[in-house]
Amino acid sequence: MENLDVIVQSALAELSAAADPAALENAKARYLGRSGELTALLKTLGQLPAEARKAAGAEINAAKERVEGALEARRAELAESQMQARLAQEALDVTLPGRGRSRGGIHPVIRSWRRVEEIFRSIGFDVADGPEIETDWHNFTALNQPENHPARSMHDTFYVDVNDANGTPLLLRTHTSPMQVRYARMWVERHRGEAKMPPIKVLAPGRTYRVDSDATHSPMFHQVEGLWIDEDVSFADLKGVYTSFLREFFETDALQVRFRPSFFPFTEPSAEIDMRFESGPLKGRWLEISGSGQVHPNVIRNYGLDPERYIGFAFGSGLERLTMLRYGIDDLRLFFDGDVRFLRQFS
Ligand code: FA5
Ligand code: MG
Repeated sequence: MENLDVIVQSALAELSAAADPAALENAKARYLGRSGELTALLKTLGQLPAEARKAAGAEINAAKERVEGALEARRAELAESQMQARLAQEALDVTLPGRGRSRGGIHPVIRSWRRVEEIFRSIGFDVADGPEIETDWHNFTALNQPENHPARSMHDTFYVDVNDANGTPLLLRTHTSPMQVRYARMWVERHRGEAKMPPIKVLAPGRTYRVDSDATHSPMFHQVEGLWIDEDVSFADLKGVYTSFLREFFETDALQVRFRPSFFPFTEPSAEIDMRFESGPLKGRWLEISGSGQVHPNVIRNYGLDPERYIGFAFGSGLERLTMLRYGIDDLRLFFDGDVRFLRQFS
């Protein structure tokens, strides 16, 4: 089959001359395609006498394999040279200094956190930090919310697949109030045996978690707990301290704030504190910023203190909410999007 040799030689020549993948595929079609030359030869086998058919078939198939091998080799060559060209074109000198190294800034919520700390430190509050993964006892029971207390459902929470020493699942704390109990018990222990326990004055900021998500609620948010316990701290002191904190935080005396009667199992009486937007898209609207109240006698007892002798107040404020009011922001999800166009405005 001289014809076969000619076909193979010209196929090999065309394949190796193909300059790009498109030319290569065209060449392939001319020889191996449905109406390609080698395919056409295979089709003629049927016309040969039976004894010649086998040898001719084997010869044509061997030729086809050679051509296919050459095709694969050329494909690999072209891919490789394409890759090399791309590497050369997109070469990047990673050792060059960057253009315009932009500076990071402090997140607006963290800015608020620092401001609140500073203000309370200036009036003698200690600042304390505690675990975000809490025991059920600290988060609920010690705060006068026993297991079947209906107020627990207000705090639908995230549970952790690990139990505490009592076999109760740990949870992500739903508020910073468990820090009241941790700090007060530590304080009582520290001053055991002293004639007069110095007042408990503590601020406990940190992350908290709830199954919540909308323009004013996020599943992870920041609270700051305040606690002041002594022999004669009253609800009037709560109003005075909190109002003067707000005046410093917002740098104005002209604040619109209201203490709205409310319920918490761990305070009696209780109030929620609302504030009015002075600017931004929500101007004129009220936003709840804090829960507060006079600490319940059962909670004082869980601190390890005598409620006949010790009394005081606590509050738990939302740092995102304070930040929204300070800057006139209408959606707290902006704090967590990580969009530098938003964040840049605060740095
Ligand atoms: C509490 O969490 C009480 N522990 C507060 C408290 C402390 C009362 C001490 C009495 C004594 P409340 O669920 O209302 O209360 O939350 C307090 C504040 O946290 C709210 O006013 C709000 O500012 C903020 N907050 C609550 N849930 C969210 C949320 N999902 N996203 C953002 N902020 C929230
Ligand atoms: Mg509330």
